[in-house]
Amino acid sequence: MRSLPLPVPALAGGGVALRPWRVDDVDHLVSAWKDPEVLRWTPVPDDAGPEKAAAWIAGARHRLETATALDLVVVDGGGTAVGEVGLSDLDHDRRVALIGWWTAAHARGRGVATQAVGLLAGWALGPPLDLAAILARIHPDNEGSLAVARAAGFRTLASRDNREVVMVAATPQRPGPTGIDREVLAEGEHKATRRG
Ligand SMILES: CC(C)(COP(=O)(O)OP(=O)(O)OC[C@H]1O[C@@H](n2cnc3c(N)ncnc32)[C@H](O)[C@@H]1OP(=O)(O)O)[C@@H](O)C(=O)NCCC(=O)NCCS
Repeated sequence: MRSLPLPVPALAGGGVALRPWRVDDVDHLVSAWKDPEVLRWTPVPDDAGPEKAAAWIAGARHRLETATALDLVVVDGGGTAVGEVGLSDLDHDRRVALIGWWTAAHARGRGVATQAVGLLAGWALGPPLDLAAILARIHPDNEGSLAVARAAGFRTLASRDNREVVMVAATPQRPGPTGIDREVLAEGEHKATRRG
């Protein structure tokens, strides 16, 4: 199985930068796991505490090496951790992945998520990862994340039973928008179906 590359040089722009998780990010992750919005909209482990956070952070390299996920910390201009953005569910044959994100409560409302999602998606659609499309699965009531996805250039691909909106970013250079749309739509519906 191929491993996933980290962005080199590190991605940065619009007042944020993306870097790998470090052992001293435990508090950043534990605080996020306690945040009501993160709890409401993202999968948080039941036993979400420092031990679980340390284990999750320690697993980041293994997830890269097994091409399972690429998880990055979002930092602001002063180097303070302000969020998370990551790719998961990579389908190498179809060149599709899911993207997910959160912003720490203290850093919301200043474009952090939009910048981070735009940076990672833009990178992943080019070499070396060269994905054809990136999907975001968002609950229709999660207005903040729907707005983030739109602001980062995603468009709605499908929605399912008022339970999920599948949004997509795809590289314009890929062959024929129609072909891409058909293939990615099938993928989006497949993933939406699999979730339920
Ligand atoms: C949603 C969330 C990521 C927003 O992060 P953020 O860094 O504050 O977002 P941004 O500052 O980049 O905002 C981008 C846009 O979303 C809008 N927005 C942000 N939060 C919003 C909210 N709660 N309700 C409505 N709009 C919102 C902003 O006004 C902005 O709109 P604009 O482009 O028209 O100016 C953050 O609240 C969060 O972490 N939520 C919980 C985790 C989550 O939902 N993850 C995604 C699961 S799919």
